[in-house]
Amino acid sequence: TSFPTQRRFLQTSPPPRVPEFAFAFDIDGVLVRSSDALPRASQALSYLQSQKIPFILLTNGGGKHEAERVADLTKKLDVPISTSMFVQSHTPFADMEEFKDKTVMVVGGVEDKCRIVAEKYGFKSVVTPGDILSAYPEIWPFSQQLLSYYQTFSRPLPANINPASPSTSLKFDAVFVYNDPRDWGLDMQIMLDVMLSKQGIMGTYSEKNGQASLPNKGFQQDGQPPLYFSNPDLLWAAKYHLPRLGQGGFREALEGVWTALTGGEKEGVELKKTVMGKPHRPTYEFAENRLIAHRKHLVGQHHAQLGSLKRVYMVGDNPESDILGGNSFKSTHGTDWASILVETGVYVAGTTPNHPPRMIVKDVWDAVSWAVAQEG
Ligand code: G3P
Ligand code: MG
Repeated sequence: TSFPTQRRFLQTSPPPRVPEFAFAFDIDGVLVRSSDALPRASQALSYLQSQKIPFILLTNGGGKHEAERVADLTKKLDVPISTSMFVQSHTPFADMEEFKDKTVMVVGGVEDKCRIVAEKYGFKSVVTPGDILSAYPEIWPFSQQLLSYYQTFSRPLPANINPASPSTSLKFDAVFVYNDPRDWGLDMQIMLDVMLSKQGIMGTYSEKNGQASLPNKGFQQDGQPPLYFSNPDLLWAAKYHLPRLGQGGFREALEGVWTALTGGEKEGVELKKTVMGKPHRPTYEFAENRLIAHRKHLVGQHHAQLGSLKRVYMVGDNPESDILGGNSFKSTHGTDWASILVETGVYVAGTTPNHPPRMIVKDVWDAVSWAVAQEG
């Protein structure tokens, strides 16, 4: 006799439980100090991965392509990190399609690593201050001792900087500061040459200048190309025990010289620029969308059953960037961003931070423990 066949329903595995909260971790001063991983950083991230609690890394740092940086971090923290869970200072530049077929200047970083990142993002014509110095050493007298260094990685210019032949003059359509400049003098001089020029043409000086009739020391900007800074940090936590000047320090120095040359904001010629990175809203919006996408990726085909992301814990060491940004960000998805300040970076334990976090803890492990306990 045949036994009634037991209709075996296809046992679809239940969707993996993905919590409705997640983390965004700053890197410098929270997970690492320059090349060294901080104690318990690996333990904190490994725990979250074991509990399927999503997290991303959100840094004002940069200088390498995302793929290279996540490979470094995976090794250093002994936790698998993918580019889908990583946002660094210049990541948003990769989406700026309008400049990819134009000539842009890329400033900062080690040698010409940032040029290579820009080319990987799809920028077709990228020039660095080192290229210009190599082609015209007299453009900045105080880096002659570095000429041989620059010549090891500089490239020929796509045009000359002799304004006598405007048709073949080098014209910049945008300037991007990707990472902390290593030669502040050269980078500042070359950037000022562009910002003071006529329509971004190297070797020219804005034609509206020198008109005594103009109220502001005779200077008016004349079609200056857009200028983007990727990171506002005045200070950051490197290996040295005191905070170090970051890209924001370079920008403040540049703006100081700009003001001395043109009269600056009080004369109506503030340096036109866009400063990106934490604490600014676009960076948090970009990071939240990355986190939502990463969370879906974690559950695969079950993502339709995924609950909404209710809370993101922003763990940082710098009240002026991580905490201010986390506190100010109002999510369009209704997600609550709760900032947690650690004592392993810029912030000095026992002092009152300019921007009050949801919680102050000793280190990243305590941040994760406290947050998970909050979620019950
Ligand atoms: O250049 C890196 C520094 O500005 C801070 O980086 O990781 O603390 O946002 P992070
Ligand atoms: Mg930091």
